[in-house]
Amino acid sequence: MIRLEGIGQVFRSRDGARVAALDGVDLSVGREQFVCIVGPSGCGKSTLLRLVAGLIAPTRGAIEVDGRRVDGPREDVGIVFQKPTLFPWASVLDNVLMPLKLMGRPAAPHGRRALELLEMVGLGGFETRLPGELSGGMQQRAAICRALIHDPPILLMDEPFGALDALTREEMTLELLSIWQDRRKTIVFVTHSITEAVLLADKVVVMSSRPGRVVSSLDVALPRPRSFAQEALPEFQSVAASVRASIFSRRKAAADAR
Ligand SMILES: Nc1ncnc2c1ncn2[C@@H]1O[C@H](COP(=O)(O)OP(=O)(O)OP(=O)(O)O)[C@@H](O)[C@H]1O
Ligand SMILES: [Mg+2]
Repeated sequence: MIRLEGIGQVFRSRDGARVAALDGVDLSVGREQFVCIVGPSGCGKSTLLRLVAGLIAPTRGAIEVDGRRVDGPREDVGIVFQKPTLFPWASVLDNVLMPLKLMGRPAAPHGRRALELLEMVGLGGFETRLPGELSGGMQQRAAICRALIHDPPILLMDEPFGALDALTREEMTLELLSIWQDRRKTIVFVTHSITEAVLLADKVVVMSSRPGRVVSSLDVALPRPRSFAQEALPEFQSVAASVRASIFSRRKAAADAR
C-alpha cells in the first residue's frame, strides 16, 4: 500500500545550514497492515509521515501509495499531526468536518458521523466549543476525529496519544484497534512508547538518530484482538525487549563512536 525507496530528505534551515533529516530510507507497508515507527527525537519520523501524505516532496527517492507516485496531498489519506493544528476560529464540529469542506464534498451528511466520533473520543457536548476552550489532550482527540471523518483507507498518526493522560490513552488505543479491525485500514503510527508499538503493530520499524535510517523492522506475531492483558505475557515481553535492544544498541554504538 505504501512504498518508500531510497528516501533522502535535506532541509535548509533559515541560516542556510543543511539538515539531513532522512537518508536512504526504504520502507514498505502492506495493505491493511498496522506499522509503528519508533526512534529518537529528531530522527525524521514526522518528516516521513509528511512525505507519505504528500505535504512535502523528498529530496531523493520515490514514494508510492496504492500503486501511484505521491505528488501532492491525497484524499485517501487521513493524518493526525503531532500538534493538533485545529483552526482556532472554527468550532470543534466544523474542525472535524473541515477535510470534507477542503475536498469540496458536502459536509452536512457527515454531521452525524462527526458527532459519533466526538462521542467516541469523549468529546460529546463539546462540538460547539472553540479549540482554545479545550485542553491539549481534548484538542488532540478532536484532531483524531478530523482524520477519521472521511473514513480514509490510510491513516498516518504522529504520536496521536502523546498529550493524553494514561487512562484516556489506553481507551483511545483500544478504540483505534477496533476502528482498524472494523474498517480495515492501513495505519502508520509514530510513538515513543515501545509497549504501545508492540500492542498495536503488525510490524515495528526502528529508526536511527539523524539522519534517520531504518535500523530494523520487527514483526509482531501476537494474536489479535490485542488487549492490555497481553503485556504480561512472555511473548509480548520478548518482542518489546527486541525493539528496546534495537534502539539502544544503536545508541550505544553511536556513543562509542563519539
Ligand atoms: N521544515 C523544516 N525545516 C528545517 N528543518 C526541519 C524541518 N522539518 C524538520 N526539520 C529537521 O529535520 C529533523 C527531523 O525532524 P522531525 O520533526 O521529522 O523529527 P521527529 O523524529 O519527528 O522528532 P520528534 O520525535 O521530536 O517529533 C530535525 O533535525 C528537524 O530539525
Ligand atoms: Mg515528530
